[in-house]
Amino acid sequence: MSDELKIYAPDPAVAAQARVSGMAAYEALCKEAETDYEGFWAQRARELISWKTPFTKVLDESEAPFFKWFSDGTLNASYNCLDRNIERGLGDKTALIFEADGGEVTKVSYSELLARTCRIANALRAQGVKKGDRVVIYIAMSIDGVAAMQACARIGAIHSVVFGGFSAQSLRDRIEDTGAKLVITADEQVRGGKHLPLKAIVDEALALDGCGAIEKVLVVKRTGGAVTMKEGRDLWMADAVAGLPDSCEPEWVEAEHPLFLLYTSGSTGKPKGVQHSTGGYLLHAALTTSWTFDLREDDVFWCTADIGWVTGHSYITYGPLALGGTEIVFEGVPTYPDAGRFWKMIQDHKVTIFYTAPTAIRSLIKAAEANDAVHPKSYDLSSLRILGSVGEPINPAAWEWYHLHVGGGRCPIVDTFWQTETGGHMITPLPGATPLVPGSCTLPFPGIQAAVVDETGKDVPWGQGGILVVKRPWPSMIRNIWGDPERFKKSYYPADFQGKYYLAGDGAIRDPKTGYFTITGRIDDVLNVSGHRMGTMEIESALVSCTELVAEAAVVGRPDDTTGEAICAFVVLKRPRPTGDEAKAIAKQLRDHVGKEIGPIAKPKDIRFGDNLPKTRSGKIMRRLLRSIAKGEAITQDTSTLENPAILDQLSQNN
Ligand code: PRX
Repeated sequence: MSDELKIYAPDPAVAAQARVSGMAAYEALCKEAETDYEGFWAQRARELISWKTPFTKVLDESEAPFFKWFSDGTLNASYNCLDRNIERGLGDKTALIFEADGGEVTKVSYSELLARTCRIANALRAQGVKKGDRVVIYIAMSIDGVAAMQACARIGAIHSVVFGGFSAQSLRDRIEDTGAKLVITADEQVRGGKHLPLKAIVDEALALDGCGAIEKVLVVKRTGGAVTMKEGRDLWMADAVAGLPDSCEPEWVEAEHPLFLLYTSGSTGKPKGVQHSTGGYLLHAALTTSWTFDLREDDVFWCTADIGWVTGHSYITYGPLALGGTEIVFEGVPTYPDAGRFWKMIQDHKVTIFYTAPTAIRSLIKAAEANDAVHPKSYDLSSLRILGSVGEPINPAAWEWYHLHVGGGRCPIVDTFWQTETGGHMITPLPGATPLVPGSCTLPFPGIQAAVVDETGKDVPWGQGGILVVKRPWPSMIRNIWGDPERFKKSYYPADFQGKYYLAGDGAIRDPKTGYFTITGRIDDVLNVSGHRMGTMEIESALVSCTELVAEAAVVGRPDDTTGEAICAFVVLKRPRPTGDEAKAIAKQLRDHVGKEIGPIAKPKDIRFGDNLPKTRSGKIMRRLLRSIAKGEAITQDTSTLENPAILDQLSQNN
């Protein structure tokens, strides 16, 4: 790998003014963390967070792997993100620049965002929400979305944001698992010029079993589209906040108090509710925003993720606000009204730091190559100084294009590797320090003890692939799986590593010369489609829940030029194997069914029908063969244990 490495050293001008300037500074921070691990984190926690009661304990490992950080300290996340900035004189500074799908722009200052947050917080309290209660937020990108999250944090309620693209069934599952008391939603959302329902989906979810704990639904008016309001349960947000004060005493919570639950897919069972803490999480969101993005007072920061994903939590709602930054909140999609939307918004708002996903870049490359009008060169992107990538591996070709055409060859790209469970960046370049190599997330963030090991937990030599682990607990790590501590232990601290190392679920390899990390992909049955994480089992369950049609289904991923991975489903029907138009019609019906069960993001791209699935004599589905078939590869694996070899030919034919 080293022989072909193309290295981009940091621009001396960027390096000179960066918070972490030069590799010597990076190495000094790593050394500091190695020498005095707790002292390293404690110092940053004192610098970046305002504590109501200062902590005296740093890391408590007594109930490992349920680690605690700063546990005798108290704080409030919303106080840290809002009031504190106002006390520092930033009250009139723009906190959020909201751009609607149709292009209308609304700006709110820190004082206005605080007032909005407090009114919602008071409304939640008035509806009986107390510290520790769960609130589900099912809303599109909006100022109210950010304010609703901050409002929950203000009163110590635990928010669980559900991405607006999830179906009623998925929303129901999350509402039930959290045991939430209240839902915050909007009448509709607007994406790509279309109005899509939100409140109607909440109604549908609440009509299903399992949502009995929900007492109230607060509805933000976004479009004015028709909705049904259920007497005694549903309340317009405007009415709920009417007459309530725009100040609200924060609930001071212990550092370990859960700030939020966010559901993500694992290799088995239903999505798991990843539980994050208040103190440790906020610290890492703020510290990574400071070091990875080098966010400063005069920056305009734009993270294009949705608040329904962890990236939106850490790099929209919490990190940049904790530092008093100005950030963009974008309601729409990158291709509406055309594929120049991102570039136009960077130009219009003079964005200085831009953070997006490789899938978005890859799809915009295609559009730009076909049409100069939507090529970045047709826009003034000179305000940019740092670019970021997140959610999936960025292939070197996309990296080079991003660097040259969006960053003008001058902006460093921080390829940030992390996960819902990690709360913030784990392995990432720092823009003024790390020489960049396209396709590599480079080196661990200072203090993060990432390593590549074999099945027994032994370090593998550089240049050899292995399992990515983190050897020491860190402040923003997942605290638990909501309601399922056993699953937490099994998933993240398995006995294979004597319960000592955090298992990320990814494979990795380090460059033999530089030690740089490259993530080689998930080692479990989790797919990454357009940066969205999905379990193959979840999609299989959704398919077989179409009981009138489906007897059996197996789902695998295959590489895709735009979305990174694509979902490929192999299905055995309860009726003879269809071909031609009939196969197409049934495939569409099944796709729609999965869309209804999980959401449009989980719809398989390919569906192939077979009389059976390739199985061993003991009945186990041979997924590695299915992966080869999905890729269109010749089968080179040993098929001698296969019960029904003829099935391979049948499945290899495209339906
Ligand atoms: O496989 C890794 C991939 O995304 C997974 C985490 O997904 P999720 O929890 O949804 O969080 C996404 C946003 C942080 C990881 O296990 N992944 C994330 N970032 C990168 C990545 N793979 C390669 N390079 C990255 N920069």
